[in-house]
This record gives sequence, structure tokens and C-alpha cells, in this order.
Amino acid sequence: MAEPMEIRGFRYWPGLLDAAAQAALVAELRAVVAAAPLYAPVTPGGRPMSVRMTSAGRLGWVTDRRGYRYEAAHPSGVAWPPIPASVLALWHGLTGLDRAPDCCLVNFYGEGAKMGLHQDRDEGDFTFPVLSISLGDEALFRVGGTDRRDPTESLWLRSGDVLLMGGAARLAWHGIDRLRFRSSRLLPGGGRINLTLRVVATSPSSS
Ligand code: SIN
Ligand code: FE2
Repeated sequence: MAEPMEIRGFRYWPGLLDAAAQAALVAELRAVVAAAPLYAPVTPGGRPMSVRMTSAGRLGWVTDRRGYRYEAAHPSGVAWPPIPASVLALWHGLTGLDRAPDCCLVNFYGEGAKMGLHQDRDEGDFTFPVLSISLGDEALFRVGGTDRRDPTESLWLRSGDVLLMGGAARLAWHGIDRLRFRSSRLLPGGGRINLTLRVVATSPSSS
């Protein structure tokens, strides 16, 4: 495995997945989305998000007027499909952990979609890292520190790039400012898919 670069405490493997691996992953994700369709989430404040979302795994991350949380089922009531084996292999290979992730959040960015600066903090144990895999169009990723006011820096995430947010960087603020729509030909209609693998380490919401 190639040595990762270090960016703000994140480990970064640019172009880790080659074109064949990216295409194979997209095929596996088509099956995920067929079982658990992408939906348009809203924030707890009622604002529609520009990304569309679904999940694979034991738990899926959801947001609606009731808040940010993990749920055992898709908003339609169907169970989340399993996390693709190739994604699990990447997780175990890069993190060195025996523990499997509970959730593979699938974010789809169409033209104009972005994601505001945030921390990933709905999980029960921040000693586990979050692994991020980018597919399709290039996206401008912004990363800061663990304080909202810390200075940020930006990098373009490209198809096949993998990022591990762990250690002190686990609670770093991060977001996606914009996309270079149709900069990649991986997805025929354009757009970007980002997968984030998370150990949730809490029981699903009982509500
Ligand atoms: C996220 O923070 O959930 C997504 C980050 C990304 O799209 O690269
Ligand atoms: Fe995030």
C-alpha cells in the first residue's frame, strides 16, 4: 500500500483506486441505491440539503426535522443493504482495524451541490476514524481544525482519492465548497459520490 500524505492530521491517498476499481465500486453502489434509493434530506432546521443521500450497513445516518442520527432503516422503512465487500476490504486494509464499520454513508453531489462546514459527531466513540472515498467529479474539500474558528485549507478531491480522518483530526471541521461538474467521466450523467465509513458504536435510535 502506498504511503499516505498528511494533511492537517488527515491521511490522504490521492488516486488510490484506479479506473477499474472505481468502475467496479460504482457498479456495487448501483445495487445499493437500487435497494435503498437516494433521497433528499433536510436539516433539523428544515433546510433542504443539496446532496442526496442513502446508506449501507447495519445503520444509516439520516437527518430530518427530528435531528441528525443513525437509524436501522431507510426513511422508506426498508433495511439498509450490506456494505460492499470491496469497501470493507479497503476499510480493514487502511485502518488496520478488525472492527467493521456500522455505516457507509453514500452522498451524491449533482451539479451545484455542496456541503457546509461541519464535524462528524453523531457517533458514540471518536477513537474510531472515518474513512472517506471519492468517486466522479472533482470537489473542493475544505478542512480546518477542531475549533470552528481555526484556519482552513482546501484541496481538490478527485475520483479514486481516499482520506482517513482519525486521531486528532477525527473531529476536524470539514465540508465541500463546490464541484467541478462533469470534470470526470466516471458517472455518465456527471456528479460525485462520496462514501464515508463510520463506526457508530451506539444502538440505533429507538424512536
Ligand atoms: C461528509 O463530510 O460527509 C462528506 C465529505 C465529502 O463529500 O467529501
Ligand atoms: Fe462529514
